[in-house]
Formats: sequence, structure tokens, C-alpha cells
Amino acid sequence: MYNRIGVFTSGGDSPGMNACVRAVVRTAIYNKLEVYGIKRGYEGMIQGQLYPMNSHSVSNIIQKGGTILKSARSKEFMTIEGRKKAYQQLRNFDIDALVAIGGDGTFTGAKIFYEEFGIPTIGVPGTIDNDLYGTDYTIGYDTAINTALDAIDKIRDTADSHNRVFFVEVMGRDSGYIAIQSGIAGGAEIVMMPETSTTIQDVINTLKEGWMRKKSSSIVVVAEGDEEGSAAEIAEKVKAQLTDLDIRVTTLGHIQRGGSPTAKDRILASRLGIAAVEGLLKGQKNAMVGIINDEVVYTPFEEAIGKQKPIHPDLLRMVGILSI
Ligand code: F6P
Repeated sequence: MYNRIGVFTSGGDSPGMNACVRAVVRTAIYNKLEVYGIKRGYEGMIQGQLYPMNSHSVSNIIQKGGTILKSARSKEFMTIEGRKKAYQQLRNFDIDALVAIGGDGTFTGAKIFYEEFGIPTIGVPGTIDNDLYGTDYTIGYDTAINTALDAIDKIRDTADSHNRVFFVEVMGRDSGYIAIQSGIAGGAEIVMMPETSTTIQDVINTLKEGWMRKKSSSIVVVAEGDEEGSAAEIAEKVKAQLTDLDIRVTTLGHIQRGGSPTAKDRILASRLGIAAVEGLLKGQKNAMVGIINDEVVYTPFEEAIGKQKPIHPDLLRMVGILSI
């Protein structure tokens, strides 16, 4: 039913995107489809940056971070004129269907594009944030939390040597998944994130209680989207009231987006890449492929971007129990 499909990565890159591109390309070829890579996401689509791929185009990339297709956040694609140009380019290259690897911004674009121009598209969740409804895990999340954890472990060494409190900021504009899981794994005393409302007073109380119980150091993990502000801002407010504490701040930033993907991310990416192409061949479209309870599922874009993926209440309780 299709002759030629296109694949692209879009939005913030994530470790494992390459493994997914590899799986999409090779599954397409395995099923006798032609496959074109689209560079720089929607931006490259608009500019006609498409090129044919074969099985060798994706050799030696399963272990590489970043994305060989490059990525971008396209402002032009948000306009109808931009989307018309993109559609025309897809027609010029005879692309019948698309595989879009990215996060909620990517799928919001894909949904509108499908409604306007009817190009069947399957989305694959590639973002370190793990904030997409319709999959237990997104590609890159496991690598990102292990990168954050490695940093937290190192910070704990120096925090303990100097009896200090460290505020460690991790990524997650709208979601606390990275914060909660790296925080639990790193033995954090407090985790602050958009999904919970930990006040400055809560932080002060917990730190004071810890000190009274002779804790020598503490780690507070802060998701960048926390409502109390950045880790630096929160640390300033705490410092103003707990003047005896020796406080430091570390912002991990984009190191969380890079690096060689973990085995878990490579396998997830490969499985989802295969399921994306097989889904298209079975008539799936306008939906994101995900894995829930170890089974492949297809969730309409509308739900994947519109519904909130809740953090399990067990995870939210754990920090308080385990940090006494
Ligand atoms: O969505 C992935 C993510 O890394 C977020 O965690 C973060 O808030 C954002 O992207 C940063 O975006 P940029 O790379 O454009 O600064």
C-alpha cells in the first residue's frame, strides 16, 4: 500500500534516536519499502532536505548519541504556509507516509499536518522527559536518568566531605520524571518537580530535621520546571533563612541529552522503530507507538499529547520514607 516512506527526528534530541532511525530504515527495507531520511525535522522537510537511505546508511550508529538526521524546532512549520511547503516537498519526493521521532511538539505538528494534508504518520516517542501518555518509557529517558544519577553520585561524594547541602537541577520543563527517578536512585533527601507542590518552607523543615538527626550532607533534586523556580533561585531563598548551612548549586543541563544510549534505550528504540513501520503497514496512522506493560500499543496523537502521564504515587512517597 506504500512505496516510499520518510523518517525524521524533531524537537530536543535524545539518546537512542539513532537506534530508532536504524530500525525504521531496516524494517522498511525488510518489507520492500523505499525509505528517505529527512534532515532537521520539519525544517528540513520544508526545505526539501530529503535523501534516499539504504541499510548501510544506518551502519555503526546504534551506539551513538544525538541523531544522524539532525533535529530542529521549526517555527515555519507552525504556519499554514510552512506546512504547505512541506507537503509540496513530500509530493515532489513521492513520500507516501512518515515516521516522526520526537516529543509532544513533534506530534502536535504531525496531528495538524495529517488533518490538513492526510499524509499517514506514526510517531515514535523520543524525548528524555518521559512525559508522553501512551508509553511507559520514551527513548532516551533511561540514558538521561543514568547520566543524572552519575552526576548526583559524584556530587554526594563532595557534599559529604564538606558537610554541604547541594541543589541539583535536572531537565524537565513540564515533567518531573527525570527528577523523581534520578532522585530516588541517588538517595536524594528532597525532590522538587512540577507535579508536586513542595514549598520553600517544606525544604527548610526537611533540611533542619535532617541536621538535627546528624545528617552530614543533603541533596535536593530540582526539576527545571518546578514552580518555586530554578535550583539557584530556590537555593538563594533557603540560604536566606538557613544561614548556617553551607549550600551549593549544580545545574546539569544538556549533558543529560547526550551520550551513548543504554542497552535499555537501544532495545526500546529498536522495538518501537520496527513497530512504527509495521503499524503503518497494518493501517495505523495519526498515532504514536508505545510500549505499555511490555506490549506494543498505538495511541492517537490527540491522546498522546493531550493526556497527562501521571507519576506513580509510590514514587512520590518513596523519597520521604527513604531519606529519614
Ligand atoms: O524536551 C527535552 C528537553 O531537554 C527538556 O527537558 C528541556 O526543558 C528542553 O528540552 C530544553 O530545550 P532546548 O534544548 O531547546 O534548550
